[in-house]
Amino acid sequence: MTTMAPKSDFAEWTHTLYLQVIGWDSLILAIVVVATLLALFRYSTRARGREAPPVSREHLALEVTWTVGPALVLLAIAIPTIRTTFRSQPADAPADALEVKVTAHQWWWQVDYPDLEITTANEIHLPAGRPVRLLLESADVIHSFWVPQLGGKRDIIPGHTNAITLVPRVPGMYLGQCAEFCGLSHANMRFRVFVDSPTQFAAWSTQQTAPAAVPGRPVEAANFVEAGARVYATNPCVTCHTISGVSTQRIGPDLTHFGSRTTLAGGTLDNTSANLAAWLRDPPALKPGAQMPNLGLSAQQIAELVAYLESLK
Ligand code: CUA
Repeated sequence: MTTMAPKSDFAEWTHTLYLQVIGWDSLILAIVVVATLLALFRYSTRARGREAPPVSREHLALEVTWTVGPALVLLAIAIPTIRTTFRSQPADAPADALEVKVTAHQWWWQVDYPDLEITTANEIHLPAGRPVRLLLESADVIHSFWVPQLGGKRDIIPGHTNAITLVPRVPGMYLGQCAEFCGLSHANMRFRVFVDSPTQFAAWSTQQTAPAAVPGRPVEAANFVEAGARVYATNPCVTCHTISGVSTQRIGPDLTHFGSRTTLAGGTLDNTSANLAAWLRDPPALKPGAQMPNLGLSAQQIAELVAYLESLK
């Protein structure tokens, strides 16, 4: 994660501001260093064998200089800072903005696209070049949304909706992280933002609005997948998760298109069969405090569930 390679308008504004402040800081540093070196070498009584200068009790010109000078520098920093603060927090989004609702949970991210009727988790897809209005809400405690390459942090406060409006400019994958301590697995509350080309985004949203894959289709090892679907439907999985057409609970992440995601467990693990199996075996072992308990599934059940969940592209 880096703030030095901005990939959205919001990130560019804060980056520019950062460079301006660095510029002023460098100027002040240069003045202080030069003044110190002059004092050490040019005006040193030891170096030149001079008498110490008379003690000056007041010097109006100097007093004015070191009062007005720093005040001007602070003003030069404050004006663009305040401008950027307001610019990055517009009250309204542009009319063509894509609305994405991000709900922070201990310790994962629910992502809803109200207009597209898409629900997913821990991975946010955004089309490059189109304004986005991220509406940030919490299901439990205070969290903070942060994707360094796409802009500054914003707190997520229970009972209050905060917003970020930005235009992602460059396609790519950008890492995000909860930036407010929110409990045991705060550090494991990660996510990814995929900025897609408009065509890629259209393909992704079509895939996400499709119904969940149904076992029994001519897929490899269909029986295994079908067995996994039975494990899912007959275990407590259904009391927390949604798979469209199968279950409707929203305590944990929506799994309708789980197989299409690159990560699992709050963005902390790559979505591989081995990681998924380890996760299903004992979630709190991989993510301390995880709300998903160890369900005591057998190795056979886990293997079948892995096959089923991975078929949900
Ligand atoms: Cu959520 Cu830290």
